[in-house]
Amino acid sequence: PHMRIDILTLFPEIALAPLSESIIKRAREKELVEIYAHNLRDWATGKHRKTDEYLCGGGQGMLLKPEPIFAAIEELQSANSKVLLMTPQGKPFKQATAQSYSTAEHLIILCGHYEGVDHRVIDTLVDEEISIGDYVLTNGAIAAAVVTDAIVRLIPGALGDERSHQEESFSDPNLLEAPAYTKPNTFRDMSVPDVLLSGNHKKIAEWKKQKALERTQQNRPDLLQD
Ligand code: ADE
Repeated sequence: PHMRIDILTLFPEIALAPLSESIIKRAREKELVEIYAHNLRDWATGKHRKTDEYLCGGGQGMLLKPEPIFAAIEELQSANSKVLLMTPQGKPFKQATAQSYSTAEHLIILCGHYEGVDHRVIDTLVDEEISIGDYVLTNGAIAAAVVTDAIVRLIPGALGDERSHQEESFSDPNLLEAPAYTKPNTFRDMSVPDVLLSGNHKKIAEWKKQKALERTQQNRPDLLQD
């Protein structure tokens, strides 16, 4: 099982840069995934190869025109493609979303201007609109790199240590990780909590659970609501 990801954007080098180092670079070298970033302008026509237009009915900013997007997606897609649109108007992207796409054969990730894309694209070509958080980025290529990274690291064989995401999926998705420490045991008068050096695995597990709960209460009380 080998995945292909095509990113469609006005800034292909922005999307590709974070996917060209470290774990994702190695996943590509191991041919677990093929990743391409295309410039939408390559499908634009006319002397100026325009990709955006003013809004119908007025309003601030520009929208991506439908024609180059339809041409690009119709050229790239096959029967097993899923088309994702990066937009702050999308569904919140979660670890579970990454899991669900980690077994896909072909993803086409369309990056909007933050003003968006002509809605006919969404109505007829897009399978899911995705937001990576409640803030507005200058362009969706950054979001596409985030989503691609989160998906590709879940492909079996992408992480060197297979245990690292086993533990992730066994752990409670509604709880943040407990604080963690490494050597030295004392650094600038700050000591690693004794329990972590005790060798008592039951005590350590209880401590982690308690600290995870405190950290979640502090940083993400919303996760404890349901
Ligand atoms: N494009 C601009 N902002 C975005 C966001 N928060 N998520 C996804 N795509 C975006």
